[in-house]
Amino acid sequence: MIKGVNDAPTKALLSAKKVSPKSASLSDALMSEKPTPDVSDLISKSNTNLLNDSSVDDSSSTNSHITVLLDEAVQALAIKPDGIYVDGTFGRGGHSKKILEQLGLNGRLIAFDRDLSAIESSKAIADARFSMVHSHFAGMQAELADMGIAKVDGILLDLGISSPQIDQASRGFSFRYDAPLDMRMDQSSGKTAADFLASTTEQVLAEVIKNYGEERFAKQIARAIITERNDGRAITTTGQLTKIVAGAVTRFEPGQNPATRTFQALRIHVNQELEELTLAMPQCLALLAPQGRLAVISFHSLEDRIVKQFVRDQANRDDLPANFPVRASELPQPKLTGVGKTIKPTAKEVKRNPRSRSAVLRVAERTNVI
Ligand SMILES: C[S@@+](CC[C@H](N)C(=O)[O-])C[C@H]1O[C@@H](n2cnc3c(N)ncnc32)[C@H](O)[C@@H]1O
Repeated sequence: MIKGVNDAPTKALLSAKKVSPKSASLSDALMSEKPTPDVSDLISKSNTNLLNDSSVDDSSSTNSHITVLLDEAVQALAIKPDGIYVDGTFGRGGHSKKILEQLGLNGRLIAFDRDLSAIESSKAIADARFSMVHSHFAGMQAELADMGIAKVDGILLDLGISSPQIDQASRGFSFRYDAPLDMRMDQSSGKTAADFLASTTEQVLAEVIKNYGEERFAKQIARAIITERNDGRAITTTGQLTKIVAGAVTRFEPGQNPATRTFQALRIHVNQELEELTLAMPQCLALLAPQGRLAVISFHSLEDRIVKQFVRDQANRDDLPANFPVRASELPQPKLTGVGKTIKPTAKEVKRNPRSRSAVLRVAERTNVI
């Protein structure tokens, strides 16, 4: 019987779990100041077009989240009515609710989010087939194992932040409000952006802003921040940071707040977003049953590159020289196949929800190969 799901569903139902010791230690490991070597490699190799994720620069403020690529992403999962599905990024549950609509009585949906407000909002779903776990998705395999689940039929990741996270001033994600400089998706653990700025070096800060924000004034911004700090003024609010960045950037991009890229870079660093995704990809592969589907919605090129490379590495057998003395049939067989082309929001969706504009959905299917 599946712990926390089939077994005593009423108890499991909406039982928002605290981060387990397993995931907490992983989380601690993830909170190191420097990007991990894997991700640094990836960044140095990439010619990123970072930041179309201008969600934090979007003035279409709401207190709810409009789900991006709702039909496309759920359709991509090719839901089997009795299957077990994972929504790694519950948010406000737009995708989760649609998945539940398509599941039969014996289907199961396990959702994850590291944000306590997302956990709170999941309590509105009174459905015995649904379980909510408070954890980062890089802890997904361990959390599912605790529930007795080794294989699932589909996993959805809708990356990045939700509109309520951006729009609630006190979360400190947006330069549109003056608020404490927090930026943690999980309000219950980890260092805030202010903590990071209080303890980092100028060099690390410049790297973070450059790599995660593709900000050409990264060095100048880092210097201005560290100078402010060395003058005895701790940077503790979004307003202070916005002002410092505006003073350090000498050429503004039309229609964009000069702090856009710095805010995004700090958010990615504080939440270790690329490391999370890098750790989650092999877990998704291990968890998917044959013909199980993986659907990932990315909002900027660094995320999309991680997904694309992972799927390619698992799927690709065409990268050997023509005269390589091994037959294709003797090579390890691919564990994933890409499904279709990347999917982007239609012009109609972008018009209705400008925050969807940089979304890219990639879909892959697990083969029978162990
Ligand atoms: C774009 S929103 C998802 C919206 C959701 N699909 C919906 O329809 O409402 C992303 C959510 O994923 C969560 N999230 C982002 N990275 C995460 C991670 N590594 N682990 C767990 N949750 C994460 C955020 O807290 C946020 O609530």
